Amino acid sequence: MKRMIKPSIPEHSDDPRVTIALTVNGETVSRTVSVRMLLSDFLRHELGLTGTHVGCEHGVCGCCTVHIDGKAGRSCLTLAVQANGADIRTIESVANGDGTLHPVQQAFKECHALQCGFCTPGMVMNIVNRFEEPGPLDLTDNGIRDMLSGNLCRCTGYINIIAAVRRAAELMGRA
Ligand code: FES
Ligand code: FES
Repeated sequence: MKRMIKPSIPEHSDDPRVTIALTVNGETVSRTVSVRMLLSDFLRHELGLTGTHVGCEHGVCGCCTVHIDGKAGRSCLTLAVQANGADIRTIESVANGDGTLHPVQQAFKECHALQCGFCTPGMVMNIVNRFEEPGPLDLTDNGIRDMLSGNLCRCTGYINIIAAVRRAAELMGRA
């Protein structure tokens, strides 16, 4: 796993520090962190997993979406210490080990569902989680818009993202 690039909280901080242990992308990691460190900063700065993007840092944009114990969640609204003992999955684990894209990633590529790509990891993590959940999917335009309502994109106008979600459903046998 990649190593720290730079600390997000100054090392001279007087914040209490706590040692946490959690699973990230199948690997057990342990670090001693400030009690106010966000999970998003922990992933990016402590583990070097910069595929998790940070936009608003207050729960609006969805760029920082990861899976927390199997559920899509905002890593900017979760403290690292709250993730102690949790199973975290990030965008870095979505493609196969041989580099083959996950069907959701493949669908985004086929449908040109990204421009700058800043929102894309959060979009993909959200949709992967939706598709992993059992039960019917509403693949009408409105149903897909509802799926995407927690993820903001500044570039695409969403048309191609909606097409990509529908294409991903085809690729995954969920259409
Ligand atoms: S960075 Fe977490 S929701 Fe925007
Ligand atoms: S592709 Fe640029 S923010 Fe979505």
